[in-house]
Amino acid sequence: MRDNFATDFPLLKQMVNHEHLVYLDSAATSQMPEQVMAAITDFKKTDNANVHRGVYTLAQRATERYEGVREQVAAWIGASDAREIVFTKGTTEGLNWLARSLKIHQGDKIVLTMMEHHSNIVPWQQVAHRLGAELVYIEMTPDFQLDMADAQRKIDGRTAVVATTLVSNVLGTVTPVRELAHLAHRNGAVIVGDGAQAVPHMPIDVKQLELDYLTFSGHKMLGPNGIGVLWGKKALLDDLDPVEFGGEMISEVGLNETTFKPTPWKFEAGTQNITGVIGLGAAIDYLQMVGWKQIQQNNQQLVQQALTALAKIPGLEIYGKPTDMVQTGIISFNLAGIHPHDVATALDMQGIAVRAGHHCAQPLMKALGVPATCRASFYLYNTTTDVTRFVDALVATKEFFTNGIS
Ligand SMILES: Cc1ncc(COP(=O)(O)O)c(C=O)c1O
Repeated sequence: MRDNFATDFPLLKQMVNHEHLVYLDSAATSQMPEQVMAAITDFKKTDNANVHRGVYTLAQRATERYEGVREQVAAWIGASDAREIVFTKGTTEGLNWLARSLKIHQGDKIVLTMMEHHSNIVPWQQVAHRLGAELVYIEMTPDFQLDMADAQRKIDGRTAVVATTLVSNVLGTVTPVRELAHLAHRNGAVIVGDGAQAVPHMPIDVKQLELDYLTFSGHKMLGPNGIGVLWGKKALLDDLDPVEFGGEMISEVGLNETTFKPTPWKFEAGTQNITGVIGLGAAIDYLQMVGWKQIQQNNQQLVQQALTALAKIPGLEIYGKPTDMVQTGIISFNLAGIHPHDVATALDMQGIAVRAGHHCAQPLMKALGVPATCRASFYLYNTTTDVTRFVDALVATKEFFTNGIS
């Protein structure tokens, strides 16, 4: 069995600021292996055509490959039926579509959590303002978990939707989605899962989690950007109106009336990101080739190594629970007295890419009482050498800002 996958990722082979690049921003976007690039190139070279339109051989091959990925995605997340898979631009688009099309009425509650990414806040805010619905947020406990007693208080008979991330992009917290689903269903609400950070890192079974809807993005799981998935239970999707209209999604168009195709095609208006779909399928192939066991062992080993070393740096504060971080590969931190942007810039000077800022989670930053954090996020191509480089660079950064020498 292979134990180092970095060699498959051409981008990682470069020097940045005279140092070998250490890429620790996979929670923002992941890098792409040669195998996915090759699949995209192969499609463009051999089968490129528009889907569902032509009767000629090439168009049929393109359609077969496109629909084949729908089946592959369905199997990968434990969906009952490939028709439950809708291709989108990404997590954000899926959440926007749901916010626009779910049946929400004046006075209904939309329950979110304090850990949400802006993508799972702003679309619901818009709909709440427009319809006169109430937004409610489940609080966090001091150890960065969802406060389930608060969830029980807030999810009630007035709740129409519970929308929660499966994994916090800042804290790495794995949320108790199944328990939230039970609370939602007991109260007649639907549950929407934001899987942007979960789907790349852990096996997801939508049935086992008892979700109603799930959204995720290809670019965070080794695939291209501009492609994502909205999964929904078939009966629920059948009941939703499409949000976009035009070519491809119709069954018959008259001068004044149009009938739509069935689920999922009624949601896919216009020429789709066919190349992105092919890339997404190749990314799933790659993740399956590596296997969850290896992906998770690598995460665990690297995060544990990092946490042990970071604990020895005085003034370094970590936001999150280690048992979550080892599963999700996310470590958010601050160095006392040094702005996170300065830390990230100093690390970049040493060839190390980490994210600094509010991570599109300003309400969470407020709850943490900080304007920003640094975030190192690991994926299957990172190595123990990367962790050593990262920690050494942080020590040098602290030294520089404290004593002016590096
Ligand atoms: C938890 C979470 N939700 C949603 C998103 C938005 O994903 P995208 O920009 O791919 O739509 C992100 C991206 O960072 C995320 O981390």
